[in-house]
Amino acid sequence: MMYKDKISEAVKFLKTKLPKRPQIAMVLGSGLGGFAKEIPSAIDIPYEDIPFWPKSTVPGHAGHLVCGQMGNNYVMTLNGRVHYYEGYSMDEVAFPIRVCGLLGVKTLILTNASGGINYGLTPGDLVLIYDHINFMGVNPLRSEEGNLFEPRFPDMTFVYDHKLMMLCEQVAEENDITLKRGVYIAFSGPSFETPAEIRMARILGADIVGMSTVPEAMAAKQMGIRVCAISCVANYAAGMEDKPLTHEEVLEETKKASSKLAIILRSLCDTVKES
Ligand code: HPA
Repeated sequence: MMYKDKISEAVKFLKTKLPKRPQIAMVLGSGLGGFAKEIPSAIDIPYEDIPFWPKSTVPGHAGHLVCGQMGNNYVMTLNGRVHYYEGYSMDEVAFPIRVCGLLGVKTLILTNASGGINYGLTPGDLVLIYDHINFMGVNPLRSEEGNLFEPRFPDMTFVYDHKLMMLCEQVAEENDITLKRGVYIAFSGPSFETPAEIRMARILGADIVGMSTVPEAMAAKQMGIRVCAISCVANYAAGMEDKPLTHEEVLEETKKASSKLAIILRSLCDTVKES
């Protein structure tokens, strides 16, 4: 079966489950799934029920959609994502985002956990991603099926939507939450980086490092979806402290910062307007 037909199958299935078109989709990253509990009278759809939807194999990533009305918007949260390092192809990593696009989602909010590269960042900080460096070694929009989505050569000057960034900053300020801005560099993982790689990333202009988000943001941008991405700094990047990195530490720190993030996410869902 062709990739595009698999996407159509998933879209067809979800249209039978959802009472209306989702306006916002939100990807909840490592340790950040708690937000979904805040959606009133939510519909829960396990990933395994959705045709061809990839399933996460990583602790801290649940596997279900939680959908419901929040203020102005019908919101679909994706609890758990799949990563390139799990052995999935980039087509599979981008699959959920393309389904969102064809369901009519106009705004995508991405969250993740990251390592802080910039010396001004501390674990627990929230960072609004304003640009990225794709260091995964592959372009996620490369496709065997030719011109899968238009445009073939999408612009990446403005991946992260300015209006959404300003809205996030306004909400953060109103709630006394410090929200910094930064450039995210994506490595393919699953190993953490070496200290030398982190020094290189700093020279290249990256503030935070992770193993996700970039393929999703690029796939969304290609489909004309407005993107907003917030990262939770979980650890100092490799070599900045005299100790090794662990996934457990990442989950622990993100959980601690997740209540601040939830305030911003809730407010975005309540107030985002499509035009
Ligand atoms: N490196 C890569 N990915 C990450 C890190 C890191 O230090 N922390 C959380 N995700």
